[in-house]
Amino acid sequence: MTIYLAFDVYGTLVDPQGMAEQLQTDVGDAAPQVSQLWRQKQLEFSFRRGLMRVYEEFGVCTRQALQTAMKSYGFALSKKREDELMTAYLSLPAFPDAEPVLEELGRHHPQFAFSNGTHAALKKVLGHNRLLEHLDGLVSVDDIKSFKPDPAVYTHARRATGALDQPLCLVSSNGWDVIGARAAGLMAIWVQRDPATVFEDWGFQPSAVIPDLYGLSDALSELAVTR
Ligand code: LAC
Repeated sequence: MTIYLAFDVYGTLVDPQGMAEQLQTDVGDAAPQVSQLWRQKQLEFSFRRGLMRVYEEFGVCTRQALQTAMKSYGFALSKKREDELMTAYLSLPAFPDAEPVLEELGRHHPQFAFSNGTHAALKKVLGHNRLLEHLDGLVSVDDIKSFKPDPAVYTHARRATGALDQPLCLVSSNGWDVIGARAAGLMAIWVQRDPATVFEDWGFQPSAVIPDLYGLSDALSELAVTR
């Protein structure tokens, strides 16, 4: 049995909170809160677009969320600065464990990025962080014009990775993504990057829980034995 790996990108391989540093120029000390609301709204907008079936690229959700977050805290943003921040989003920093772990696991597992981001956006942010070269491919929800956690995107990931007769395992720090994948019949490992984050009890348990990607190799070995 070969476990295929599908890595979530934003929050798992690269850190959306990296935008807080950029935002300091615009909002000073409020940067961490604005950045957090930006991310929260980005996800909310993707969920709503999925439900309303008014799909636009994830970048549109990101831009509208930035506008909303800034307005919510009473800040204005010029079009030029908005474009600059959107460009900076394409070079978000990677978490320090991402590159070494992808390099190591790529020797044993077929591995893919699997994200709400478009192929173009993923190529940029993963290329910028030297992660692209360790991946066997990219799976974007843009292929089927819907967003996580629509079960259709997890089924698409199975087809796109070629993991039809072998298990596909999502690796994600986003608990709602893990629940979505489990509900759609995938294995899913939760990366609990923040110890204060709780896993919501929806009756779908993660296949394993790890504090960071360094725990992934051991978790996969255990899953392979217990299957
Ligand atoms: C992604 C979002 C969920 O990368 O962070 O798909």
